[in-house]
Amino acid sequence: MPTQGSCYLGIDVGTSGTKGIMVNDRGDLLGEAEAGYEVATPHPGWTEQSPADWWAAVQTVCRDLVERCGVPAAMGLTGQMHGAVFLDDRHEVIRPALLWNDQRTAAQATAVEQRVGPERLRAIAGNPALTGFQAPKILWLRDNEPDHWARVARVLLPKDFIRLRLTQQLVSDASDAAGTLLLDLERRDWSDEILDALAIPRDWLPSVFEGPEVTGTVTADAAAVTGLAPGTPVVAGGGDNAAAAVANGALASGDSIVSVGTSGVVFAPTDAPRPDPQGAIHAFCHAVPGRYHLMGVMLSAGGSLQWSARTLTDPDTEPDYQRLLAEAAEVAPGSGGVVFLPYLAGERTPHMDPDARGSWAGLSLAHGRGHLVRAVLEGVAYGLRDAFDRIEAIDQPLNRPRLIGGGMRDAVWRQILVAVLGRDCAFGGSGAEPATGAAILAAVGSGAYQDVAAAVAAMVPMAGDTVAPDADLVAAYEPRRRAYDALYPAIRDWHHNYTSTAWD
Ligand code: XUL
Repeated sequence: MPTQGSCYLGIDVGTSGTKGIMVNDRGDLLGEAEAGYEVATPHPGWTEQSPADWWAAVQTVCRDLVERCGVPAAMGLTGQMHGAVFLDDRHEVIRPALLWNDQRTAAQATAVEQRVGPERLRAIAGNPALTGFQAPKILWLRDNEPDHWARVARVLLPKDFIRLRLTQQLVSDASDAAGTLLLDLERRDWSDEILDALAIPRDWLPSVFEGPEVTGTVTADAAAVTGLAPGTPVVAGGGDNAAAAVANGALASGDSIVSVGTSGVVFAPTDAPRPDPQGAIHAFCHAVPGRYHLMGVMLSAGGSLQWSARTLTDPDTEPDYQRLLAEAAEVAPGSGGVVFLPYLAGERTPHMDPDARGSWAGLSLAHGRGHLVRAVLEGVAYGLRDAFDRIEAIDQPLNRPRLIGGGMRDAVWRQILVAVLGRDCAFGGSGAEPATGAAILAAVGSGAYQDVAAAVAAMVPMAGDTVAPDADLVAAYEPRRRAYDALYPAIRDWHHNYTSTAWD
């Protein structure tokens, strides 16, 4: 059993900021801290961040938590997936990191498919080449920035860059590594076949560990700037969705999570790799050793609400979300026929289309702001239902999904999503956050628990409430879902031919 007083730290290198969570061995929250940073969009469709900003935020968060809670017995890392951090042979950052929602790599994604072969790529890496994944980003650098390319000695995922700064070790974990497209899912290690086809040197990549394994310890230099104790073990951790799944006890086939953050995610663990024949659902490794998962990802879920709130309100003040959501609640289900496509940053599930764009369709003089906002909430819910159905068709029926993420704190949105999903959902009662999952993996890695399941049993309060769908809402949404499904195919070619990038 854990030594009394042991605490565990999880660090989540997110898109809007880095969050740290300290828990004790029973999973009680001891403290949380956050430090924000910006996303740069130097061109439409590009998203970049400075790894130095992440490292500065991690230092702030660690110092704050150590001051309030003491030093942790072990720590774990999680973060935004798919990003590419390019380092030279002295481990200096060569250029800003390309992020998970960056859409500049359409040509390189096609090149990955062609060089590896679509069938081999699907059979080995479990997924088609999507613009957001890491491998096309590496080829983009080769094609577009030869001076930078000539200096590359390492390529890391965001949280693994932080690990390098903390421990001097070059290590990733299987769940995050799966999001590069370079991993052999069965073997949970890099694929020489894919690396050879893309001419990417294997020694640019870190070693791959399982989520709870210790990857190194905090160095004296890192201890001096973070307040952590030198020698603190750092476990591999996981991609943010896999770590959130650990924090919510979604470890086994049949479990599921629906998350509404900036992105919208449906996550379902599987016992073995189960690539989607249509490629609309990602198949990755779980942060639980030997396990896998399926995942549908919408790029702009909470992001769509944020964008519409900013766009529909006074630009000089912070949007009043309560007021906007109250206006949406006043509008009848179906938003008076207005349909919103939440493809503001292109879309992954189900269209895998970086050139898709957002729309409000069906507007008339009778519609106001409440209709527009409600249509956003409904559009995201329809998209998540689609991902949910696809996952059930690939693997097996899913138990009561657990709703997590900032968007689900709103009762109106929650009620809409539960009705569109058309089944009982679980809400509340658990740690829910990726950083909590990383802290749980740290508890396992430090030997406090025998495995992830034992740690989750001891540290995750799974009770929560059951939210049942409202029968009238279910009946209202079932036919309206079809209107949403029909809209993208009807305007797809128009987007491709006439949206702003086509005019650039
Ligand atoms: C998952 C994905 C996003 C990021 C956001 O495939 O791209 O959920 O991990 O943090």
